[in-house]
Amino acid sequence: MFDVLPQLPADPILGLSTAFKADTNPNKIDLGVGVYKDEQSNTPIFTSVAKAQGILLEKETSKTYIPPQGNQGYIDGFLSLLLGKGHTALLEDRVAAVQAPGGTGSLRILSDLLKRCNSNAKVWVSDPTWANHIPLIQNAGLELATYTYFDKETAGINFHAMVACLEKVDKDDIVLLHGCCHNPTGADLTNEQWDKVLEIAQNRGFIPFIDVAYLGFGDGLDEDAYGLRLLTSNLPEVLIAASCSKNFGLYRERVGLAAIVTASTVTRKVVQSQIQSVARGNYSMPPSYGGALVDIILSNEVLKTEWVNEVESMRLRMSSLRQLLLDKLNENGASKDFSFITKQKGMFSFLCITPEQVQAVRDKHSVYFVGSSRVNIAGISKSNVDTLAKALVSVL
Ligand code: LMR
Repeated sequence: MFDVLPQLPADPILGLSTAFKADTNPNKIDLGVGVYKDEQSNTPIFTSVAKAQGILLEKETSKTYIPPQGNQGYIDGFLSLLLGKGHTALLEDRVAAVQAPGGTGSLRILSDLLKRCNSNAKVWVSDPTWANHIPLIQNAGLELATYTYFDKETAGINFHAMVACLEKVDKDDIVLLHGCCHNPTGADLTNEQWDKVLEIAQNRGFIPFIDVAYLGFGDGLDEDAYGLRLLTSNLPEVLIAASCSKNFGLYRERVGLAAIVTASTVTRKVVQSQIQSVARGNYSMPPSYGGALVDIILSNEVLKTEWVNEVESMRLRMSSLRQLLLDKLNENGASKDFSFITKQKGMFSFLCITPEQVQAVRDKHSVYFVGSSRVNIAGISKSNVDTLAKALVSVL
């Protein structure tokens, strides 16, 4: 049976962790998988999450199944965080949603739902996009297309070309947008650019599919939700795949949300039944633990404030690490202008160096990051930034 299967190469992102672990260089640096790290290279449990774990331990009395849609408190709390309290779609009962296993699980459920709606649906993704978007959408049987996004020459968005592409997207096609902190480039749309995307979506009739995995890591929790709130307030139908992996540090608990803003309560009920049936056919219902923790945090003002402060301190730390890396590159005589690093947002920076240079920095200096030149900014520390800057400068 299985002899027909070929051996596959390691995953372009997750495979980096295995390679990094196997490297015996004591000065190795891991800027691969998008996981937050502190100055000591640890990924600690948030204090607010640790407190919520204590509360959950006391209050959880059974391990029976949770409802098919997941934890309703979690769903309501997370939706209010994303869309803002008092969002019209929430007040009008037009949002179908299920708790899903991580952002990836949410993306896959929504892709399966799209396939049910229209087996010829075409999903447009930014060039480049998160490496896993591509197999995930194709595995769901959807057609994939790309719209122009990032320009390596300017290390910013080629908005003119993006607009030209979006203006050709057909009615009922799907456009996947990164809500904030674009993965892998860190190049985000400005509010004015989001306004223009809305205008095109209204004219063309395409449906936005917003992936939001880094809320709070760009400019702040509310600021990062600008595009998401704008599109969901002004369009009849929007899909949202959200994750709590990064901004609650709940990676391994697999906590996500698949939500669909619909045009009416009647449609919302139909879509809710469909999305639950997609989930049932895949894994029945989501794991409970992580969603229960987020529910506890978001429904307790004291814990929520503590969590907001934790996210804010991570955001500020990553922003200061951008400046630190830029300063060290310049101090070490970088022949390339890296000033774009401090303009990019969130956890990632796209260094705009070649795959050969990425490989050379890994082979010669044991610095690990994605072949596209994406680095995880949170992997930088005061103790490794010198080594890192020297290694990068040496391959330019
Ligand atoms: C990343 O982009 O590094 C993270 O989202 C982890 C992953 O699953 O790829």
